[in-house]
Amino acid sequence: MSIQSQSNPITISHLNDMKTRGEKIVCLTAYDATFSAIESLNGVEVILVGDSLGMILQGHDSTLPVTMEDIIYHLANVKRTNRGSLIMADMPFMSYASEEQTLENAASLMRAGANCVKLEGTAWIGKSTELLAERGIPVCAHMGLTPQSVNRIGGYIVQGRDPNKAEELIQEAKLLENSGASILLLECVPRELAKTICESVEIPVIGIGAGPDVDGQIMVIYDLIGITQMEKAPKFVKNFLLENNSIESAIDGYVKAVKEKTFPGAEHSFE
Ligand code: KIV
Repeated sequence: MSIQSQSNPITISHLNDMKTRGEKIVCLTAYDATFSAIESLNGVEVILVGDSLGMILQGHDSTLPVTMEDIIYHLANVKRTNRGSLIMADMPFMSYASEEQTLENAASLMRAGANCVKLEGTAWIGKSTELLAERGIPVCAHMGLTPQSVNRIGGYIVQGRDPNKAEELIQEAKLLENSGASILLLECVPRELAKTICESVEIPVIGIGAGPDVDGQIMVIYDLIGITQMEKAPKFVKNFLLENNSIESAIDGYVKAVKEKTFPGAEHSFE
């Protein structure tokens, strides 16, 4: 059963305690008031207002066209009906390219209701992370497959299979923790690498396509209920509506599966 409520909202300290206790952290995206209410009332500890909205809601072929105004609009809707989940908001593409921009845009997200901001990148986001953390803004550093860099990476492909790249990711995770990141998010990395990173840092590590051995899981809500424009859903996606008869019970099924460590399984993970 969910521990959060409006009077006892989830904080970064709760997430740290959960890592220490070995209790899995459940995260899910939401972009509107209805899903925000259902998710927060059904035990989702972290709601992400993700720039995935650019592809899912707006129909773009990447997250690059998403603007600060877009995130703020959806964040405000999510905030209105949230019942105690920690709200994380994505900083969109090029909204943290300079120090001044980083501070100004992160402040706008916090004023609009975020409890934490998410930045994608490698060691180069260390400086922004430090600037924000010093000023009291919790940062989630999104590593591995970083969709805002899809044009440089060359596609939505698993990261860290090469041993040199894997070692680089481990060192970057430590650097970002030392820079003040409160959370790491690992997307599409081999299971063993994700486990090593999770054991190398003290802050919570949330995974998507990173296997079961991290501190928590995140999924895109539309994937969880099987609504997709893709011909084939990514390997790490599970449609929980197939084994549940309502959206609410599908979300509940996801929460239970993450808590009970039955999701993700080997079939949702990369070797
Ligand atoms: O934007 C988003 O929804 C994300 C998740 C896929 C982690 O970054």
